[in-house]
Amino acid sequence: MQKQNATNEIGVVGLGLMGCSIITALLMSGNKVIALAPLPDDMKNAPNKIMHYLEDAYGNGFSTYTPAQNLERLVYTEDYAELANCDITMECVSENLEIKKKVYANIEKFISPKSILTTNTSALPITLLKDFVQYPNRFIGMHWAEPAFTTKFLEIVCSSATDITIAEYLYELASGWGKEPTLVRKDIRGFITNRIMYAMYREAFFLVENGYATIEDVDRTCRNDGGHWMPFCGLFRYMDITGLQAYYSVMKDLFPTLNNQAHVPTLIEGIAKQGGNGIVNGKGFYSYTPEEAAEWEKAYEEFSFDISRLSAKFPIDMVEKRLLEKAAVNFVNNNGKIE
Ligand SMILES: NC(=O)c1ccc[n+]([C@@H]2O[C@H](COP(=O)([O-])OP(=O)(O)OC[C@H]3O[C@@H](n4cnc5c(N)ncnc54)[C@H](O)[C@@H]3O)[C@@H](O)[C@H]2O)c1
Repeated sequence: MQKQNATNEIGVVGLGLMGCSIITALLMSGNKVIALAPLPDDMKNAPNKIMHYLEDAYGNGFSTYTPAQNLERLVYTEDYAELANCDITMECVSENLEIKKKVYANIEKFISPKSILTTNTSALPITLLKDFVQYPNRFIGMHWAEPAFTTKFLEIVCSSATDITIAEYLYELASGWGKEPTLVRKDIRGFITNRIMYAMYREAFFLVENGYATIEDVDRTCRNDGGHWMPFCGLFRYMDITGLQAYYSVMKDLFPTLNNQAHVPTLIEGIAKQGGNGIVNGKGFYSYTPEEAAEWEKAYEEFSFDISRLSAKFPIDMVEKRLLEKAAVNFVNNNGKIE
């Protein structure tokens, strides 16, 4: 659940899938947001989408502010000059070097050299992008996940030139927004999450392309094994809980057999080259009628709220909290004597 926080003025440049979701998260945390549409087309969908997210978040008890209260702190614009007073500006445009470079030049014409500039890139190295900005010390990766207003995920990624105090400031700020941020102190392509996820994707393609399992069975395995425990704890904690010694002996024999191909799998290449874009156009690893696509989208929205509620019951410091509660009960039961 989002916490309220002192108001910052934050610019979000790019009102696509992630931009709209990030804007929703920032509004729910009490910030003023300047939502900048770099292409006029963004304005066709973004206001309705953000309104829908705000209503959904409020209806599900995730926002203490009503949609109307949140909208009072939102300004839509196509004019980069409106970013002039932003404490932080978040770039959220397509994953394309040339587009990002052009957008940074537009942003830096107006923002103060003392303000922070972040990128939501999924996998472009921050150290590469920093060469496109005027003040690399205040440039940093702030990598959100979809839906940004329900998940606690947020990766803060330094380039080789980022001022670490900016990273630490954003870490604290994001914690105040109800996130459980992670700090990547040394830049690496894919950061934490995409390095782990893409290792899984590569193995999934290997199993399917080589006839070991179907797409359906790989998906079913992910849902019911990793999907069951990952919202509870991370990989390392899970190995501790379920038997570190066993993992040690399995790794010796299994690691040499895992796929480590460097090329893009033929299966996704074939679909992508024919224009397949999953539920967006009904053509992906599965095919979808428009009704099925809409229903998948809706179900995922519902699931995101439910899984966030469930993981809020098991916070990262759950064991410390439980032990403190137990100690407090014992203290009362022992009439104030410490055991
Ligand atoms: N989609 C995800 O789940 C996800 C998750 C994490 C990070 N990201 C990253 O967030 C960023 C945005 O991704 P998205 O999924 O919101 O993309 P999107 O396609 O939904 O939106 C792209 C945005 O880029 C802008 N844009 C496109 N061409 C442009 C141009 N020539 N000049 C200026 N602006 C232009 C569009 O106006 C739009 O606002 C990318 O860097 C992506 O890698 C995406």
